[in-house]
Amino acid sequence: MTRQRTVWRLPRAGSLDRLERRDEALPDPGPGEARVRVEAIGLNFADLFAAQGLYSATPRGPFVPGLECAGVVEALGPGSAASGRLAVGDRVIALTRFGAYATALNAGVTYLRPAPAGWSAAQSAAWPVQGLTAWYGLVPLGNVQPGKVVLVQSAAGGVGLLALEILGALGARPVAVVGREEKRRFLVAERGLSPGAVVVRDPRRFGAQLDDALAAVGAPGFDCVLDAVLGPTFRPAFDRLRPEGRYVLFGAADFMTHGARPNYLRLAVEYLRRPRLDPLAMISDNRGLLAFNLIWLWEHADRLPAAYAELERLAPHPPHVGATFAFDRAPEALRLLQSGGTIGKVVLEL
Ligand SMILES: NC(=O)c1ccc[n+]([C@@H]2O[C@H](COP(=O)([O-])OP(=O)(O)OC[C@H]3O[C@@H](n4cnc5c(N)ncnc54)[C@H](OP(=O)(O)O)[C@@H]3O)[C@@H](O)[C@H]2O)c1
Repeated sequence: MTRQRTVWRLPRAGSLDRLERRDEALPDPGPGEARVRVEAIGLNFADLFAAQGLYSATPRGPFVPGLECAGVVEALGPGSAASGRLAVGDRVIALTRFGAYATALNAGVTYLRPAPAGWSAAQSAAWPVQGLTAWYGLVPLGNVQPGKVVLVQSAAGGVGLLALEILGALGARPVAVVGREEKRRFLVAERGLSPGAVVVRDPRRFGAQLDDALAAVGAPGFDCVLDAVLGPTFRPAFDRLRPEGRYVLFGAADFMTHGARPNYLRLAVEYLRRPRLDPLAMISDNRGLLAFNLIWLWEHADRLPAAYAELERLAPHPPHVGATFAFDRAPEALRLLQSGGTIGKVVLEL
């Protein structure tokens, strides 16, 4: 039976101010789908880029943002029960290619999995995108091994905290970079990092800051860098990669401005100033750059079960939810995430 739902929708990308709350009908789940009553929605930095029209995967025209949520299965579409994987009433987490800012949604059962036992809905919704991102960057791409030294940008953010947990499980040694002093204090007090291994980023002297951190951890350079900031801190970090080092790039938070719309002039300047690498130098220095977009994993869903299993093994604890907002306050929650001051995950709760 058709169900009513509420969504946050943008008539088109371009400005956060276009986000509007709408009541609408949700059709019955189709073949291979399940209908989920949403209990919590995980916010991602990509939601901001999507709303501003700066995320290439964003649908053209009207769209509902949101890449993940947690909730309860309400109904199964034709054939969805056949796999025996899901039943009505199951608590699940959903990976969505947009569409999660909703009180209910239909999702392909391929993209649903049981919520971890004992986790709240907010913790469950905080886990898939940022967990898979951290795992994919550090393990298949970064090839991080025990004892290796890994630089993690935005280390107190959603991806960053999960990356630190994975590095702990791998027996690697992190150097954490954050934008604010309160985040440094959090990582030292709550995550047990040594003060010398946490850098409060200053783009004017970032190279010297990294040298101090490397001296503090007793390493000649980084074996891996996990970076979704880009901007002026890219080059000093790349230059401190050791031979065989891998620089894993998966975002450009430095491009984010603090208004509702992008600052196109600043973006143009940043774009023109973007770092350029010499492939021949990479050959002689025996180190390289890898880049990814998690949408790729969404499009290769057959790989998701193994990816989740690895993530569960390496990051078995509930993620840190730093801020929760009622569903009605989605614009406020996005503005907080956009401020760059959040620690852990920002979640909408229903
Ligand atoms: N490629 C992919 O598939 C993929 C998937 C997930 C996430 N990502 C990227 O990974 C990064 C982390 O994502 P997340 O959702 O976990 O977010 P987050 O780290 O919780 O929040 C974003 C962080 O970016 C940093 N930042 C740097 N420059 C900024 C600016 N100009 N404005 C605002 N914040 C700025 C801030 O931390 P500090 O100042 O402490 O650094 C901020 O807290 C984002 O860049 C995101 O786009 C990429």
